[in-house]
Amino acid sequence: MADSHAKMTQATPQEIIISVLAGLFAPLLAIFLIVMLVLSIQAKHKPDTTSEAAQKATLDRIKPFSTLVALDANAPKVEKSGQEVFEAVCTTCHTPGALGAPKFGNKGDWGPRIKQGYDTLIKHALEGIRQMPPRGGDGDLSDTEVARAVAYMANAGGASFKAPEAPAPAAPAAAAGTAPKADPAKGKVVFEAVCVACHGTGVAGAPKLGDKAAWGPRVSQGYATLYSHALNGIRAMPAKGGNAALSEADLANAVGYLMTEGGGKL
Ligand code: HEC
Ligand code: HEC
Repeated sequence: MADSHAKMTQATPQEIIISVLAGLFAPLLAIFLIVMLVLSIQAKHKPDTTSEAAQKATLDRIKPFSTLVALDANAPKVEKSGQEVFEAVCTTCHTPGALGAPKFGNKGDWGPRIKQGYDTLIKHALEGIRQMPPRGGDGDLSDTEVARAVAYMANAGGASFKAPEAPAPAAPAAAAGTAPKADPAKGKVVFEAVCVACHGTGVAGAPKLGDKAAWGPRVSQGYATLYSHALNGIRAMPAKGGNAALSEADLANAVGYLMTEGGGKL
């Protein structure tokens, strides 16, 4: 009796080991199953990069970046005509007369506004006025483009404003007469001292030395215009390459050097 009681309550060492292992094993098994479940759920959610739809989705996601790349500063910005700007931006409101905008071609709408003068109209178009958003809501438009669009609309409404032909600040005509003669051979030294910082590697979209594709459209503007842009700066190109102490002769030589290396003739 006493013997059998002892047998019931006292476990043998083997039994203890087995029960301890079983006690450990049950939670481990549970954890293992949970991990497997999570992994299988994740596997189902893994993006499928092979299918056409998935590739299209990826392309869509990266689209804003590729658009930015397409707007590379290497491509010289071609300024739009007044009509082009109008058709791209201003027409939205100025054709139907939305929000009270003076309608395109309507002399009654435009008459009193034209009386304010071209400069005031440009100012209002640039800065916005009442329901008219600054630059018609397109911040990428240059001052020249807005001025051209204003002339295009106002002239259709009875005015005879003369739209600016070239970017106003560069004043290429004035500079053209004063551009010093360039000696490209002497320009190499200046280039290596100043311009190489950006034009050596193409920093900030600067056209690289000797890159004919990048220089081609620029060179076709002519030496006087390029010189004036280098003198006054243009977009990310600082005036005199950021070196105010540079003499105009040295600058001219450097422009000549960049031009001829880029496939242009002086
Ligand atoms: C979102 C609508 C909208 C767009 C887009 C728009 N305009 Fe306007 N514009 C207006 C409205 C509204 C007015 C009238 C504002 C007022 O006088 O109350 C106006 C007025 C003007 C005037 C007359 C300002 C004055 O002093 O009388 C000019 C000039 C003008 N717009 C130029 C432009 C040009 C250039 C563009 C395109 C680059 C453009 N607008 C695009 C809504 C627009
Ligand atoms: C801080 C960087 C930087 C330096 C330094 C620099 N440039 Fe540039 N340069 C640019 C950039 C950026 C452009 C392209 C501007 C654009 O068209 O948007 C450019 C464009 C030009 C152009 C073409 C302008 C046109 O109308 O297409 C000329 C010419 C030029 N640089 C001459 C020079 C010369 C000469 C020097 C040295 C004296 C120089 N640059 C130094 C950044 C620089």
